[in-house]
Amino acid sequence: MHKNYGLNELREMFLKFFETKGHLRLPSFSLIPQNDASLLLINSGMAPMKPWFTGEQEPPRHRVCTCQKCIRTGDIENIGKTARHGTYFEMLGNFSFGDYFKKDAIHWAWEFLTSPEWVGLDPNRLYPSVFEGNETTPADDEAFRIWNEEIGIPADRIFKFGKADNFWEHGSGPCGPCSEIHFDRGEKYSCGKPTCAVGCDCDRYIEVWNLVFTQFDSDGKGNYTPLDHPNIDTGMGLERLACVMQGVDNLFEVDTVQRIMKHISSIAGVTYKQDEKTDVSLRVITDHIRSTTMMIGDGVMPSNEGRGYVLRRLIRRAARHGRLLGIEHPFLSEVVSTVIEENKAYPELAEKKDLIIRVVKEEEESFGRTIDKGMQLLSELMSDSDKKEISGADAFKLYDTYGFPLDLTKDILEEKGMTVDEASFEQLMKEQKQRARDAR
Ligand code: ALA
Repeated sequence: MHKNYGLNELREMFLKFFETKGHLRLPSFSLIPQNDASLLLINSGMAPMKPWFTGEQEPPRHRVCTCQKCIRTGDIENIGKTARHGTYFEMLGNFSFGDYFKKDAIHWAWEFLTSPEWVGLDPNRLYPSVFEGNETTPADDEAFRIWNEEIGIPADRIFKFGKADNFWEHGSGPCGPCSEIHFDRGEKYSCGKPTCAVGCDCDRYIEVWNLVFTQFDSDGKGNYTPLDHPNIDTGMGLERLACVMQGVDNLFEVDTVQRIMKHISSIAGVTYKQDEKTDVSLRVITDHIRSTTMMIGDGVMPSNEGRGYVLRRLIRRAARHGRLLGIEHPFLSEVVSTVIEENKAYPELAEKKDLIIRVVKEEEESFGRTIDKGMQLLSELMSDSDKKEISGADAFKLYDTYGFPLDLTKDILEEKGMTVDEASFEQLMKEQKQRARDAR
């Protein structure tokens, strides 16, 4: 049985391991992308390094390793409902810019995961997958061979998948086929279907590490230009790894994250895992306060556009779930201290603590002034039981007068099986923007 390491310990072990393999350890880049219009927020370890992959810029060393703060908001409406999703996570990664390639990447990943000197997972619970090929890119026989002949994994334990699973790209930029390493969490996590195996959507086999063999530069429109030199881009979710090591069900039960949730539970006077509705709210707040703290720490401010609006939505969504837990006063700023306490690896947070607390507090208070009136209006709209949809005009009023971001309104309506006429909402938004432009 492997040891139970804390999240902070695991981060340090990973970075140390790759230092012993000649990598330069760099601090996490900011969540705000620099010179990259294709991204609102940094969503992977490789994103801030695109110019090093393409060769546009010379990297400080040809092998580096990082633990990168990441935000992915694509799943925002699922956060809380399941314990799988989160907007904020940390990604461990080792990178090669025209230096080592598949062989070393695979050998090192295996060594880190299975050596008792490092994390020491049981090799029999790990399963790699490789790219099976398509019209444009051949099957990755080389990766298969390395796993099979050099690492010694029997062929029937190596899975072959298509583009959706084993070809990595995100927006435009460097991309390529990849090899994923899955961990078998055991029978009790299985969906029980006879087809349940690596690649199944259930909780049994989870992907822990993705090794991308970056060979192309994509323009984001389906054109792939081969890169002058191949690279390595790997990503392992730190919280994921911690789940596996700590033997807990999901990211919310990982040591550092659980301490943040406990603080929220104590403010609300509730206990996790007693009531599903309460749990949803606890998860939403725990996730959103982590992202919020990290975003403000990197200089994002609440606003009605772009990144600032992502931040505003997160704070307001968390504030509303606080109300659902029966917390009547602004409380999110209190939780910020715990988030900072649990994230000593990011000293910039402690330096900006006062600012982060102030920004969260102001946003929470300003929403607090209108939230009750907005909720009242929404309840009235929802109590009209014949209706399945509220008008764009009502959703717009909730947005404009009461500060309800559209996704928050949708979220609340969904609980009653209702929707919004989004096309007419968007039209009203457009008109408002035009009026503002005209006035300028
Ligand atoms: N960039 C790759 C990912 O995010 C490693 O999965």
